[in-house]
Amino acid sequence: MTEPPCPAWLSFTLTNIFRRMAHHPVRLLGPFLKEGDTALDIGCGPGYFTIPMARMVGDRGWVVAVDIQREMLERTRRSAERAGVAGRVRLHLAAEDSLGLDLKADFALVFWMAHEVLRLEHFFGEILAALKPEGSLLLVEPKVHVPKRRYAEIVAAAKSVGFTSHQTDPVRLSRAVLLCPGATSRSRG
Ligand SMILES: C[S@@+](CC[C@H](N)C(=O)[O-])C[C@H]1O[C@@H](n2cnc3c(N)ncnc32)[C@H](O)[C@@H]1O
Repeated sequence: MTEPPCPAWLSFTLTNIFRRMAHHPVRLLGPFLKEGDTALDIGCGPGYFTIPMARMVGDRGWVVAVDIQREMLERTRRSAERAGVAGRVRLHLAAEDSLGLDLKADFALVFWMAHEVLRLEHFFGEILAALKPEGSLLLVEPKVHVPKRRYAEIVAAAKSVGFTSHQTDPVRLSRAVLLCPGATSRSRG
């Protein structure tokens, strides 16, 4: 069962200062991003991770913020402008059943959104196609909405299209895994 997308009016639950204590963007994503990278924030919502990601990739890098809700992308755009990083953030409106990406990225983040996706295999297949062979995907799901069994199904869908799973640091309130294209062994960073 999938859940309906988190509505834009609930954005404050994703951007409030208390979240920073549980999900510090630099601590969580620092090991995966470097200057000049192209990064995807898939299901970006109001841009909680997009803005720090844009700082981490620097002015030679890009962050593509992807969402199915125009209002979420608009919130992300406003935050990027306020933070002075709008020049390195590209907003991408996805269709409900297709991301429609046309690029090769170094890193993709799917944070607290995969349980809202209708066709998981198709979704992960599109991410795989949008990653460089040495790229990686950090998948994080909320413990409250996503019980262990559902989480295992989500990870299995990613593996079925060609990702391999790797242990990563725990993320508070969440279940997390690092997914890499192909059968290569991989350590973080
Ligand atoms: C719970 S919010 C999480 C936002 C953000 N990742 C965070 O952690 O702050 C989930 C977001 O995923 C988006 N979403 C749901 N299904 C999607 C899909 N198939 N493609 C792209 N975005 C999607 C929703 O519109 C919503 O903005």
